[in-house]
Amino acid sequence: MRTLSGIQSSGVLHLGNYYGAIRQFLELQDQGEALFFIANLHALNTVRDGAQARSLTQETALTYLALGLDPRKAILFRQSDIAEVCQLYWILGTVVPQSNLERAHSYKDKIARGISPDFGLFAYPVLMAADILIYGTDVVPVGRDQVQHIEFARDWATKFNQTYVPGYDPADPEGKEKGHSPGILKLPRARLAEDAEVVLGTDGQKMSKSYGNTIEMFADEKDVKKKIMGIKTDSTPVEAGKPVEGNALHQLLKVMAPPADFVELDRSWRAGGKGYGDYKKKLLECFHATFGEARKRHAELSKDPAEVERVLQDGAQRARALAAPYVDAVRRAVGL
Ligand code: ADP
Ligand code: TRP
Repeated sequence: MRTLSGIQSSGVLHLGNYYGAIRQFLELQDQGEALFFIANLHALNTVRDGAQARSLTQETALTYLALGLDPRKAILFRQSDIAEVCQLYWILGTVVPQSNLERAHSYKDKIARGISPDFGLFAYPVLMAADILIYGTDVVPVGRDQVQHIEFARDWATKFNQTYVPGYDPADPEGKEKGHSPGILKLPRARLAEDAEVVLGTDGQKMSKSYGNTIEMFADEKDVKKKIMGIKTDSTPVEAGKPVEGNALHQLLKVMAPPADFVELDRSWRAGGKGYGDYKKKLLECFHATFGEARKRHAELSKDPAEVERVLQDGAQRARALAAPYVDAVRRAVGL
């Protein structure tokens, strides 16, 4: 089984990215073959400053490594180091119905938030499909918001195979039955974390870099404290039981506290007797207990950019080798 996923380097990664994506990556690197990359080409849609793009790519690599992605277990690389992905992106685009892109949720959401509707943003799912299909990926761990993109990748792989593989039957994509040919592009499937929950930000909305409500794993200590102490709460008195629904503080305790501790925290939360300030202090403790080791690794690794670069170069070489048979077969099929 081959697993692949990526995160855009369009900002510093936060708790939402960790609990929604990276934690799954850590589990998967121990099961079969895994590739994880920094989607720095996708990030160009929003980062419009070369120096900043470079430094965010580097920071995303450090974040992956510090949180425990292990280059001995998984292939870690930068999207832009695999030039062939842009070629597949183009070829695939020639069979992509424009109407699919017009109904992409993430495109519509981004436009609604005021991001400029440039071609790159519109074509985003095609590059993402190329990222997935170029390695013959079986499984793509992602957050709920990305599931539609994986479905597109399946649909377009099917369309490509139907167009270019004589004897391809979409009902038998691997060509297991007599008279059927296997597709050139493999059909991937999405994998959602079992307890996939949207992590809430300090203002109670979905935590997202575009809402300015994030808590970053590697922010300096003062900043982390300020953000946690600043989580929005209501005016429920200390003695009263506190509301749970949509409460960011309660939810962050749920994802970050050890499960046994959370049982007690949740009981007292509902019963009343403690103020929000006490829970914020507890959350700060949980934050450092969870990320203390990773923060040390991050500090060490940031002193050694040459080592991070070595890991990424090595990853790119291994990724390219896995892509080669797919790239060759696609080029041959379309007549290049
Ligand atoms: P952002 O919303 O900050 O721009 P991205 O869209 O780059 O984050 O998300 C990268 C990955 O992290 C995706 O797989 C996404 O599903 C996951 N993710 C981002 N924010 C959250 C969140 N608040 N809760 C759960 N998962 C999240
Ligand atoms: N779109 C994904 C995100 O915003 C990043 C991404 C790009 C990706 N290419 C991918 C994820 C391929 C999985 C597979 O997080």
